[in-house]
Amino acid sequence: MKDVLLQKIENRSIVVGVIGMGYVGLPLAIAFARSGIKVVGFDIDPDKIQKINSGISYFKHIPSKLLKEATNENKLTASTDFADIRYVDAVIMCVPTPLNQFREPDLSYVINTIQSILPYIRSGQVVSLESTTYPGTTEEELLTRIESRGFKVGEDFFLIYSPEREDPGNPNFSTSTIPKVVGGTTKSCLDVGVALYGNIIEKVIPLSSTKAAELTKLLENIYRSVNIGLVNEMKMIADKMEIDIWEVIDAAATKPFGFTPFYPGPGLGGHCIPIDPFYLTWKAKEYGISTKFIELSGEINTKMPEWVVQKVIDGLNDNERSLKNSNVLVIGLAYKKNIDDVRESPSVELMEQLRKKGANIFYSDPYVPHFPKMRDYKFDLSSLDITKENLTLMDCVIISTNHDDVDYDLILKHSKLIVDTRGVYRKNYMNVIKA
Ligand SMILES: NC(=O)c1ccc[n+]([C@@H]2O[C@H](COP(=O)([O-])OP(=O)(O)OC[C@H]3O[C@@H](n4cnc5c(N)ncnc54)[C@H](O)[C@@H]3O)[C@@H](O)[C@H]2O)c1
Repeated sequence: MKDVLLQKIENRSIVVGVIGMGYVGLPLAIAFARSGIKVVGFDIDPDKIQKINSGISYFKHIPSKLLKEATNENKLTASTDFADIRYVDAVIMCVPTPLNQFREPDLSYVINTIQSILPYIRSGQVVSLESTTYPGTTEEELLTRIESRGFKVGEDFFLIYSPEREDPGNPNFSTSTIPKVVGGTTKSCLDVGVALYGNIIEKVIPLSSTKAAELTKLLENIYRSVNIGLVNEMKMIADKMEIDIWEVIDAAATKPFGFTPFYPGPGLGGHCIPIDPFYLTWKAKEYGISTKFIELSGEINTKMPEWVVQKVIDGLNDNERSLKNSNVLVIGLAYKKNIDDVRESPSVELMEQLRKKGANIFYSDPYVPHFPKMRDYKFDLSSLDITKENLTLMDCVIISTNHDDVDYDLILKHSKLIVDTRGVYRKNYMNVIKA
Protein backbone atom coordinates (compact mmCIF):
# COMPACT_ATOMS: atom_id res chain seq x y z
CA MET A 1 0.00 0.00 0.00
CA LYS A 2 2.74 2.41 1.03
CA ASP A 3 4.70 1.93 -2.20
CA VAL A 4 1.59 2.42 -4.33
CA LEU A 5 0.80 5.66 -2.52
CA LEU A 6 4.40 6.91 -2.69
CA GLN A 7 4.45 6.13 -6.41
CA LYS A 8 1.23 8.11 -6.95
CA ILE A 9 2.67 11.02 -4.98
CA GLU A 10 5.89 10.93 -6.96
CA ASN A 11 4.23 10.89 -10.38
CA ARG A 12 1.58 13.37 -9.18
CA SER A 13 -1.34 11.16 -10.06
CA ILE A 14 -2.49 11.32 -6.43
CA VAL A 15 -5.93 12.87 -5.81
CA VAL A 16 -6.19 15.02 -2.71
CA GLY A 17 -9.38 15.76 -0.77
CA VAL A 18 -9.31 18.80 1.52
CA ILE A 19 -12.15 18.96 4.05
CA GLY A 20 -13.07 22.44 5.33
CA MET A 21 -12.67 25.15 2.69
CA GLY A 22 -11.97 28.00 5.12
CA TYR A 23 -8.98 30.25 5.74
CA VAL A 24 -6.71 27.22 5.93
CA GLY A 25 -8.28 24.69 3.56
CA LEU A 26 -8.86 26.93 0.55
CA PRO A 27 -5.24 28.15 0.11
CA LEU A 28 -4.00 24.61 0.73
CA ALA A 29 -6.29 23.22 -1.98
CA ILE A 30 -5.15 25.96 -4.37
CA ALA A 31 -1.49 25.15 -3.60
CA PHE A 32 -2.01 21.47 -4.51
CA ALA A 33 -3.90 22.42 -7.68
CA ARG A 34 -1.19 24.89 -8.73
CA SER A 35 1.40 22.15 -8.40
CA GLY A 36 -0.55 20.09 -10.91
CA ILE A 37 -2.25 17.75 -8.43
CA LYS A 38 -5.97 17.04 -8.69
CA VAL A 39 -7.85 18.29 -5.62
CA VAL A 40 -11.42 18.01 -4.40
CA GLY A 41 -12.49 20.53 -1.78
CA PHE A 42 -15.21 19.42 0.65
CA ASP A 43 -17.35 21.59 2.90
CA ILE A 44 -20.75 21.43 4.55
CA ASP A 45 -21.39 25.01 3.38
CA PRO A 46 -22.98 24.76 -0.11
CA ASP A 47 -22.40 28.46 -0.71
CA LYS A 48 -18.62 28.04 -0.48
CA ILE A 49 -18.72 24.98 -2.74
CA GLN A 50 -20.75 26.81 -5.36
CA LYS A 51 -18.37 29.79 -5.26
CA ILE A 52 -15.28 27.58 -5.63
CA ASN A 53 -16.78 25.77 -8.61
CA SER A 54 -17.56 29.16 -10.19
CA GLY A 55 -14.02 30.40 -9.52
CA ILE A 56 -15.18 33.12 -7.12
CA SER A 57 -13.06 33.71 -4.02
CA TYR A 58 -14.85 34.54 -0.77
CA PHE A 59 -11.69 35.85 0.93
CA LYS A 60 -10.38 39.27 0.02
CA HIS A 61 -6.75 38.19 0.51
CA ILE A 62 -7.18 35.30 -1.97
CA PRO A 63 -7.71 36.69 -5.50
CA SER A 64 -10.43 35.05 -7.59
CA LYS A 65 -7.88 34.93 -10.43
CA LEU A 66 -5.85 32.40 -8.45
CA LEU A 67 -8.93 30.30 -7.76
CA LYS A 68 -10.10 30.52 -11.38
CA GLU A 69 -6.75 29.26 -12.65
CA ALA A 70 -7.12 26.23 -10.39
CA THR A 71 -10.73 25.53 -11.33
CA ASN A 72 -10.35 26.34 -15.05
CA GLU A 73 -7.79 23.64 -15.54
CA ASN A 74 -10.16 21.36 -13.62
CA LYS A 75 -7.44 20.68 -11.08
CA LEU A 76 -9.68 21.94 -8.28
CA THR A 77 -13.33 20.97 -7.93
CA ALA A 78 -15.52 21.19 -4.85
CA SER A 79 -18.26 19.04 -3.39
CA THR A 80 -20.60 18.71 -0.42
CA ASP A 81 -20.95 14.99 -1.05
CA PHE A 82 -18.69 13.13 1.37
CA ALA A 83 -19.23 9.88 -0.54
CA ASP A 84 -16.67 11.28 -3.00
CA ILE A 85 -14.01 10.72 -0.33
CA ARG A 86 -13.69 7.17 -1.73
CA TYR A 87 -12.18 8.64 -4.94
CA VAL A 88 -9.35 10.52 -3.23
CA ASP A 89 -6.01 9.12 -2.07
CA ALA A 90 -5.25 11.74 0.58
CA VAL A 91 -7.78 13.19 3.03
CA ILE A 92 -6.70 16.44 4.69
CA MET A 93 -8.92 17.81 7.45
CA CYS A 94 -8.93 21.59 8.04
CA VAL A 95 -12.10 22.05 10.10
CA PRO A 96 -12.57 24.46 13.04
CA THR A 97 -11.41 23.64 16.57
CA PRO A 98 -13.07 26.30 18.78
CA LEU A 99 -13.71 26.36 22.53
CA ASN A 100 -17.11 25.60 24.00
CA GLN A 101 -19.00 27.86 26.41
CA PHE A 102 -16.85 26.56 29.30
CA ARG A 103 -13.66 27.47 27.37
CA GLU A 104 -12.90 23.80 26.86
CA PRO A 105 -11.88 22.17 23.53
CA ASP A 106 -14.81 21.66 21.18
CA LEU A 107 -13.77 18.80 18.92
CA SER A 108 -17.25 18.35 17.49
CA TYR A 109 -16.20 19.55 14.00
CA VAL A 110 -13.32 17.07 13.88
CA ILE A 111 -15.50 14.26 15.19
CA ASN A 112 -18.43 15.09 12.86
CA THR A 113 -16.02 15.12 9.93
CA ILE A 114 -14.45 11.76 10.69
CA GLN A 115 -17.88 10.24 11.36
CA SER A 116 -19.26 11.47 8.06
CA ILE A 117 -16.29 10.25 5.99
CA LEU A 118 -15.76 6.99 7.88
CA PRO A 119 -18.04 4.88 5.64
CA TYR A 120 -16.12 6.07 2.56
CA ILE A 121 -12.57 5.63 3.84
CA ARG A 122 -10.89 2.85 1.90
CA SER A 123 -7.56 1.09 2.20
CA GLY A 124 -4.56 2.80 0.64
CA GLN A 125 -5.50 6.29 1.81
CA VAL A 126 -3.52 8.76 3.88
CA VAL A 127 -5.48 10.82 6.41
CA SER A 128 -3.99 14.06 7.72
CA LEU A 129 -5.36 16.32 10.44
CA GLU A 130 -4.30 19.97 10.20
CA SER A 131 -6.68 21.57 12.72
CA THR A 132 -4.97 22.93 15.82
CA THR A 133 -5.59 20.68 18.83
CA TYR A 134 -4.12 19.16 21.99
CA PRO A 135 -1.55 16.33 21.94
CA GLY A 136 -3.25 12.98 21.55
CA THR A 137 -6.22 14.05 19.42
CA THR A 138 -5.11 12.37 16.19
CA GLU A 139 -4.71 9.00 17.82
CA GLU A 140 -7.55 9.26 20.35
CA GLU A 141 -10.18 10.56 17.91
CA LEU A 142 -9.10 9.47 14.42
CA LEU A 143 -6.97 6.34 14.80
CA THR A 144 -9.50 4.48 16.92
CA ARG A 145 -12.39 5.31 14.59
CA ILE A 146 -10.57 4.38 11.37
CA GLU A 147 -9.26 1.16 12.91
CA SER A 148 -12.84 0.28 13.85
CA ARG A 149 -13.36 -0.28 10.12
CA GLY A 150 -10.84 -3.11 10.32
CA PHE A 151 -7.93 -1.20 8.74
CA LYS A 152 -4.43 -1.41 10.20
CA VAL A 153 -2.49 1.82 10.54
CA GLY A 154 0.82 1.95 8.66
CA GLU A 155 -0.31 -0.91 6.44
CA ASP A 156 -3.86 -0.34 5.14
CA PHE A 157 -3.96 3.39 5.80
CA PHE A 158 -1.57 6.10 6.90
CA LEU A 159 -2.30 8.65 9.61
CA ILE A 160 -0.50 11.96 10.12
CA TYR A 161 -0.86 15.23 11.95
CA SER A 162 0.51 18.31 10.24
CA PRO A 163 -0.39 21.64 11.80
CA GLU A 164 -1.35 24.51 9.58
CA ARG A 165 0.78 27.64 9.91
CA GLU A 166 -1.14 29.82 7.47
CA ASP A 167 -0.73 33.55 8.16
CA PRO A 168 -3.54 35.16 6.13
CA GLY A 169 -2.60 38.49 4.60
CA ASN A 170 1.16 38.04 5.16
CA PRO A 171 2.73 39.05 1.82
CA ASN A 172 6.10 37.47 2.68
CA PHE A 173 4.93 33.88 3.06
CA SER A 174 2.51 31.59 1.23
CA THR A 175 1.36 28.03 1.85
CA SER A 176 4.32 26.61 -0.08
CA THR A 177 7.04 28.74 1.51
CA ILE A 178 6.04 28.18 5.15
CA PRO A 179 7.98 25.12 6.43
CA LYS A 180 5.61 22.33 7.43
CA VAL A 181 5.90 20.07 10.47
CA VAL A 182 4.66 16.47 10.01
CA GLY A 183 4.23 13.69 12.56
CA GLY A 184 3.09 10.16 11.71
CA THR A 185 1.56 7.38 13.80
CA THR A 186 4.13 4.94 12.39
CA LYS A 187 7.34 5.34 10.40
CA SER A 188 5.44 4.41 7.20
CA CYS A 189 2.81 7.05 7.97
CA LEU A 190 5.56 9.63 8.39
CA ASP A 191 7.22 8.67 5.10
CA VAL A 192 3.93 9.09 3.26
CA GLY A 193 3.21 12.41 5.01
CA VAL A 194 6.63 13.86 4.20
CA ALA A 195 6.27 12.83 0.54
CA LEU A 196 2.72 14.22 0.30
CA TYR A 197 3.54 17.68 1.62
CA GLY A 198 6.97 17.70 -0.01
CA ASN A 199 5.11 17.98 -3.32
CA ILE A 200 3.88 21.50 -2.56
CA ILE A 201 5.97 22.73 0.36
CA GLU A 202 9.60 23.76 0.10
CA LYS A 203 10.63 22.46 3.51
CA VAL A 204 8.99 19.63 5.44
CA ILE A 205 10.11 18.89 9.02
CA PRO A 206 9.52 15.26 10.08
CA LEU A 207 8.77 14.65 13.78
CA SER A 208 8.77 11.41 15.74
CA SER A 209 5.04 11.35 16.56
CA THR A 210 1.70 13.00 15.90
CA LYS A 211 1.69 14.16 19.54
CA ALA A 212 4.98 16.05 19.08
CA ALA A 213 3.53 17.74 15.99
CA GLU A 214 0.34 18.65 17.89
CA LEU A 215 2.33 20.19 20.73
CA THR A 216 4.62 22.05 18.32
CA LYS A 217 1.68 24.04 17.00
CA LEU A 218 0.48 24.82 20.52
CA LEU A 219 3.96 25.93 21.60
CA GLU A 220 4.10 28.35 18.66
CA ASN A 221 0.76 29.91 19.52
CA ILE A 222 1.31 29.94 23.28
CA TYR A 223 4.65 31.66 22.68
CA ARG A 224 2.81 34.40 20.81
CA SER A 225 0.05 34.71 23.38
CA VAL A 226 2.50 34.90 26.31
CA ASN A 227 4.75 37.44 24.59
CA ILE A 228 1.81 39.61 23.55
CA GLY A 229 0.56 39.42 27.16
CA LEU A 230 4.03 40.45 28.38
CA VAL A 231 4.26 43.42 26.04
CA ASN A 232 0.71 44.51 26.92
CA GLU A 233 1.69 44.49 30.59
CA MET A 234 4.86 46.43 29.75
CA LYS A 235 2.69 48.95 27.89
CA MET A 236 0.58 49.60 31.00
CA ILE A 237 3.68 50.02 33.16
CA ALA A 238 5.36 52.30 30.60
CA ASP A 239 2.19 54.38 30.37
CA LYS A 240 2.17 55.03 34.13
CA MET A 241 5.88 55.94 33.94
CA GLU A 242 5.21 58.24 30.97
CA ILE A 243 7.53 56.25 28.72
CA ASP A 244 6.65 55.57 25.08
CA ILE A 245 6.46 51.76 24.78
CA TRP A 246 6.82 51.92 20.98
CA GLU A 247 10.13 53.75 21.29
CA VAL A 248 11.28 51.13 23.80
CA ILE A 249 10.30 48.15 21.63
CA ASP A 250 11.97 49.64 18.56
CA ALA A 251 15.13 50.20 20.61
CA ALA A 252 15.13 46.69 22.11
CA ALA A 253 14.62 45.24 18.61
CA THR A 254 17.99 46.63 17.55
CA LYS A 255 19.61 43.89 19.67
CA PRO A 256 20.73 41.36 17.06
CA PHE A 257 20.14 38.30 19.25
CA GLY A 258 17.95 37.16 22.14
CA PHE A 259 15.04 39.55 21.57
CA THR A 260 12.07 39.20 19.23
CA PRO A 261 9.75 42.20 19.13
CA PHE A 262 6.07 41.75 19.94
CA TYR A 263 3.69 44.68 19.84
CA PRO A 264 0.91 45.75 22.18
CA GLY A 265 -2.65 46.26 20.97
CA PRO A 266 -6.31 46.37 21.96
CA GLY A 267 -6.36 42.64 22.82
CA LEU A 268 -6.05 39.30 21.08
CA GLY A 269 -8.09 38.22 18.11
CA GLY A 270 -8.49 35.57 15.44
CA HIS A 271 -9.32 31.92 15.49
CA CYS A 272 -5.94 30.87 16.91
CA ILE A 273 -4.08 32.85 19.57
CA PRO A 274 -6.99 33.55 21.97
CA ILE A 275 -8.23 29.96 21.70
CA ASP A 276 -5.51 27.39 21.02
CA PRO A 277 -3.54 27.82 24.28
CA PHE A 278 -6.60 26.66 26.22
CA TYR A 279 -6.53 23.35 24.37
CA LEU A 280 -3.32 22.64 26.27
CA THR A 281 -4.72 24.01 29.55
CA TRP A 282 -7.52 21.47 29.33
CA LYS A 283 -5.30 18.53 28.42
CA ALA A 284 -2.61 19.45 30.98
CA LYS A 285 -5.20 18.98 33.77
CA GLU A 286 -5.29 15.29 32.89
CA TYR A 287 -1.61 15.23 33.92
CA GLY A 288 -2.17 17.29 37.09
CA ILE A 289 -0.44 20.37 35.69
CA SER A 290 -1.81 23.90 35.63
CA THR A 291 -0.73 26.13 32.76
CA LYS A 292 0.07 29.35 34.62
CA PHE A 293 1.68 31.28 31.74
CA ILE A 294 -1.33 30.60 29.53
CA GLU A 295 -3.82 31.72 32.17
CA LEU A 296 -1.86 34.85 33.04
CA SER A 297 -1.33 36.05 29.48
CA GLY A 298 -4.98 35.24 28.73
CA GLU A 299 -6.01 37.38 31.69
CA ILE A 300 -3.84 40.36 30.64
CA ASN A 301 -4.79 40.17 26.97
CA THR A 302 -8.52 39.93 27.74
CA LYS A 303 -8.30 43.05 29.89
CA MET A 304 -6.95 45.17 27.03
CA PRO A 305 -10.26 46.40 25.55
CA GLU A 306 -11.17 47.69 29.04
CA TRP A 307 -7.86 49.54 29.22
CA VAL A 308 -8.55 51.17 25.83
CA VAL A 309 -12.06 52.18 26.94
CA GLN A 310 -10.54 53.93 29.96
CA LYS A 311 -8.15 55.80 27.65
CA VAL A 312 -11.13 56.92 25.56
CA ILE A 313 -12.98 58.10 28.69
CA ASP A 314 -9.89 60.01 29.90
CA GLY A 315 -9.32 61.61 26.50
CA LEU A 316 -12.94 62.70 26.19
CA ASN A 317 -12.85 64.02 29.75
CA ASP A 318 -9.89 66.23 28.84
CA ASN A 319 -12.02 67.57 25.97
CA GLU A 320 -14.86 68.18 28.45
CA ARG A 321 -16.97 65.42 26.98
CA SER A 322 -18.47 62.33 28.50
CA LEU A 323 -18.45 58.94 26.77
CA LYS A 324 -22.22 58.82 26.96
CA ASN A 325 -23.68 60.22 23.72
CA SER A 326 -20.23 60.76 22.22
CA ASN A 327 -19.66 59.66 18.63
CA VAL A 328 -16.88 57.09 18.56
CA LEU A 329 -15.41 55.72 15.33
CA VAL A 330 -13.47 52.46 15.50
CA ILE A 331 -10.96 52.06 12.67
CA GLY A 332 -10.45 48.41 11.74
CA LEU A 333 -12.93 45.69 12.60
CA ALA A 334 -10.76 42.74 11.53
CA TYR A 335 -8.52 41.30 14.24
CA LYS A 336 -5.36 42.12 12.33
CA LYS A 337 -4.29 44.25 9.44
CA ASN A 338 -5.03 43.63 5.77
CA ILE A 339 -7.49 40.76 6.21
CA ASP A 340 -11.26 40.50 6.59
CA ASP A 341 -11.39 38.03 9.51
CA VAL A 342 -13.35 39.40 12.50
CA ARG A 343 -13.38 36.22 14.60
CA GLU A 344 -12.62 37.06 18.24
CA SER A 345 -11.63 40.57 17.12
CA PRO A 346 -10.93 42.87 20.08
CA SER A 347 -12.38 45.76 18.02
CA VAL A 348 -15.80 44.20 18.39
CA GLU A 349 -15.45 43.73 22.15
CA LEU A 350 -14.28 47.35 22.34
CA MET A 351 -17.38 48.48 20.43
CA GLU A 352 -19.60 46.45 22.73
CA GLN A 353 -18.06 47.92 25.89
CA LEU A 354 -18.31 51.47 24.53
CA ARG A 355 -21.92 50.94 23.47
CA LYS A 356 -22.83 49.65 26.92
CA LYS A 357 -21.51 52.90 28.36
CA GLY A 358 -23.78 54.92 26.06
CA ALA A 359 -21.45 55.88 23.18
CA ASN A 360 -22.75 56.12 19.61
CA ILE A 361 -20.61 53.60 17.75
CA PHE A 362 -19.39 53.69 14.16
CA TYR A 363 -16.74 51.67 12.42
CA SER A 364 -14.66 51.88 9.29
CA ASP A 365 -12.91 48.93 7.68
CA PRO A 366 -12.12 48.62 3.96
CA TYR A 367 -12.10 44.83 4.35
CA VAL A 368 -15.45 44.51 6.15
CA PRO A 369 -18.15 46.54 4.35
CA HIS A 370 -20.97 45.40 6.67
CA PHE A 371 -20.92 44.25 10.27
CA PRO A 372 -21.05 40.45 9.89
CA LYS A 373 -23.27 37.97 11.67
CA MET A 374 -21.50 36.99 14.92
CA ARG A 375 -22.51 34.61 17.67
CA ASP A 376 -22.05 37.00 20.62
CA TYR A 377 -22.32 40.47 19.08
CA LYS A 378 -24.88 42.29 16.99
CA PHE A 379 -24.40 45.71 15.39
CA ASP A 380 -26.57 47.02 12.58
CA LEU A 381 -23.72 48.94 10.96
CA SER A 382 -21.89 49.36 7.67
CA SER A 383 -18.35 50.64 7.24
CA LEU A 384 -18.20 54.44 7.30
CA ASP A 385 -16.11 56.24 4.68
CA ILE A 386 -13.18 58.11 6.13
CA THR A 387 -13.87 61.66 4.96
CA LYS A 388 -13.26 65.08 6.45
CA GLU A 389 -17.02 65.45 7.08
CA ASN A 390 -17.38 62.12 8.86
CA LEU A 391 -14.25 62.65 10.96
CA THR A 392 -15.38 66.06 12.17
CA LEU A 393 -18.63 64.48 13.39
CA MET A 394 -16.68 62.17 15.72
CA ASP A 395 -15.70 62.93 19.31
CA CYS A 396 -13.13 60.15 19.29
CA VAL A 397 -11.47 57.92 16.69
CA ILE A 398 -9.89 54.67 17.88
CA ILE A 399 -7.21 53.01 15.76
CA SER A 400 -7.96 49.43 16.65
CA THR A 401 -6.55 47.66 13.57
CA ASN A 402 -3.87 49.26 11.44
CA HIS A 403 -4.85 48.24 7.88
CA ASP A 404 -2.45 49.69 5.32
CA ASP A 405 -5.33 50.88 3.16
CA VAL A 406 -6.47 53.71 5.49
CA ASP A 407 -5.69 57.44 5.20
CA TYR A 408 -4.09 58.03 8.62
CA ASP A 409 -2.97 61.57 7.67
CA LEU A 410 -6.58 62.56 6.97
CA ILE A 411 -7.63 61.06 10.32
CA LEU A 412 -4.86 62.97 12.10
CA LYS A 413 -5.81 66.20 10.42
CA HIS A 414 -9.55 66.15 11.10
CA SER A 415 -10.06 64.25 14.36
CA LYS A 416 -10.57 65.95 17.70
CA LEU A 417 -9.25 62.96 19.62
CA ILE A 418 -7.46 59.80 18.44
CA VAL A 419 -6.80 56.81 20.67
CA ASP A 420 -4.08 54.85 18.89
CA THR A 421 -3.70 51.25 20.08
CA ARG A 422 -1.36 50.18 17.25
CA GLY A 423 1.46 52.70 17.27
CA VAL A 424 0.38 54.21 13.95
CA TYR A 425 1.39 57.68 15.12
CA ARG A 426 4.91 57.35 16.47
CA LYS A 427 5.48 61.09 17.01
CA ASN A 428 3.61 63.01 19.70
CA TYR A 429 0.53 64.94 18.58
CA MET A 430 -1.82 67.05 20.68
CA ASN A 431 -4.88 65.06 19.57
CA VAL A 432 -3.37 61.56 19.85
CA ILE A 433 -3.37 59.33 22.93
CA LYS A 434 -1.21 56.23 22.67
CA ALA A 435 -3.08 53.34 24.27
N1 LIG B 1 -7.19 30.89 10.22
C1 LIG B 1 -5.92 30.74 10.45
O1 LIG B 1 -5.13 31.65 10.22
C2 LIG B 1 -5.35 29.43 10.99
C3 LIG B 1 -3.95 29.29 11.05
C4 LIG B 1 -3.42 28.09 11.52
C5 LIG B 1 -4.26 27.08 11.95
N2 LIG B 1 -5.62 27.23 11.92
C6 LIG B 1 -6.44 26.11 12.35
O2 LIG B 1 -7.01 25.50 11.20
C7 LIG B 1 -8.32 25.00 11.49
C8 LIG B 1 -9.33 25.59 10.52
O3 LIG B 1 -9.36 26.99 10.71
P1 LIG B 1 -9.95 27.99 9.62
O4 LIG B 1 -9.50 29.35 10.04
O5 LIG B 1 -9.64 27.53 8.25
O6 LIG B 1 -11.51 27.81 9.89
P2 LIG B 1 -12.73 28.32 8.97
O7 LIG B 1 -13.89 28.49 9.86
O8 LIG B 1 -12.28 29.46 8.10
O9 LIG B 1 -12.98 27.11 7.99
C9 LIG B 1 -13.46 25.88 8.40
C10 LIG B 1 -14.35 25.33 7.31
O10 LIG B 1 -14.76 24.04 7.70
C11 LIG B 1 -16.10 23.86 7.33
N3 LIG B 1 -16.66 22.76 8.12
C12 LIG B 1 -17.09 22.76 9.39
N4 LIG B 1 -17.50 21.54 9.76
C13 LIG B 1 -17.32 20.74 8.70
C14 LIG B 1 -17.55 19.38 8.46
N5 LIG B 1 -18.07 18.56 9.39
N6 LIG B 1 -17.24 18.89 7.23
C15 LIG B 1 -16.73 19.69 6.28
N7 LIG B 1 -16.48 21.00 6.45
C16 LIG B 1 -16.78 21.51 7.64
C17 LIG B 1 -16.75 25.20 7.56
O11 LIG B 1 -17.93 25.36 6.81
C18 LIG B 1 -15.63 26.14 7.09
O12 LIG B 1 -15.74 26.46 5.72
C19 LIG B 1 -8.57 25.34 12.95
O13 LIG B 1 -8.21 24.26 13.74
C20 LIG B 1 -7.62 26.50 13.21
O14 LIG B 1 -7.27 26.59 14.56
C21 LIG B 1 -6.18 28.39 11.43
